[in-house]
Amino acid sequence: MMPTKHPLTFSVIAECARTKARTAILTLPHATLETPVFMPVGTKGTMKGLLPEQLEDLNCRMMLSNTYHLGTNPGPDLLDKAKGLHSFMHWRNGLLTDSGGFQMVSLLKLARITEEGVTFKSPYDDSECLLTPERSIEIQNSIGADIIMQLDDVVSSTLQDRNRVEEAMHRPVTLTIRWLDRCLKAHKKPEKQCIFPIVQGGLFSDLREECAKSLLLRDVAGYAIGGLSGGEEKADFWRMVTLSTGILPRDKPRYLMGVGVAADLVVCVALGVDMFDCVFPTRTARFGSALVDSGNLYLKHKRFAKDFSPIDPECECSTCKRHTRAFLHSVVTVEASACHLLSVHNIAYQVSFSQFFMSCWEVRFFLSLQRGSLKNNAGSSS
Ligand code: GUN
Ligand code: ZN
Repeated sequence: MMPTKHPLTFSVIAECARTKARTAILTLPHATLETPVFMPVGTKGTMKGLLPEQLEDLNCRMMLSNTYHLGTNPGPDLLDKAKGLHSFMHWRNGLLTDSGGFQMVSLLKLARITEEGVTFKSPYDDSECLLTPERSIEIQNSIGADIIMQLDDVVSSTLQDRNRVEEAMHRPVTLTIRWLDRCLKAHKKPEKQCIFPIVQGGLFSDLREECAKSLLLRDVAGYAIGGLSGGEEKADFWRMVTLSTGILPRDKPRYLMGVGVAADLVVCVALGVDMFDCVFPTRTARFGSALVDSGNLYLKHKRFAKDFSPIDPECECSTCKRHTRAFLHSVVTVEASACHLLSVHNIAYQVSFSQFFMSCWEVRFFLSLQRGSLKNNAGSSS
């Protein structure tokens, strides 16, 4: 069979001589961006506290949304009428949707996994719903994100019971892999959207290796590593990331799901990861915390009441340019605007943090050459 012409290109610009870190240009139908990239999460299409154009102003070129929430509201019919989420929400950059199952398993503890799919009780009307791989892809086709995720069977990484993982993975051909094949078959827009498969396997090297190797046999444009944002020991987490990136091909993007705390980003970039997402920066903003290199500033604390410095004097964001910690202290968790101001800073921190990896002279030199011939897609299509 002829390989699919995927709507994604990934050009590695520079690789670190000592680690597996690399920088690359990722081109998608709605965005051209540099990796490593951090993608903030706008669960229902929009980011809580930020408008799409504000995200764009913060140099954010790729965000993540969830199939589960969007499939319920606005729902696929309305999304089809609106010609997809990009135009519905007026987001002109890269978009990735997660497949839905993970949200159900983690949000609704009542989810049940069978060969057919994920069964769960709707939180809206208590009815039983079944999310199959086909249905997940159908909804993701209506949303129209540049990258869509396969439905996967996520086993908690802190669940050390090997029998449970083996049962969930149904060796030798795992449930996650059978669902991947159903997803690939159900995909109606391969010329516009890429499906990323997901490496699962808990914390067991042999299962994860088997899963990763099986994914290599499928014709896909990039890969995700899942099941690793659940509070496992760091040593296990790093071991599983190292193992996965060691098997996944060097010429395709690798996306580590649900990971976005600064220290994890540094380590995992060195282990060969290119893409990350996490609710952490926006969620912490809503709780009144600002991200800085030395840790979090919990602005509600009384020590900030008379602190007239910005969150971070080095930060270029509009919050740091205009507002003091004392002002933020006085409005935080009282005014909706405080959530907005902190989200601006936290997203700017995450985005500039990713750009840090682009800052060695060698990479900048290559980038300056590339940029001349690169059309920056931001805002050019919808
Ligand atoms: N988000 C964080 N981890 C995962 C995972 O393992 N699978 C999916 N689908 N989404 C995730
Ligand atoms: Zn700032």
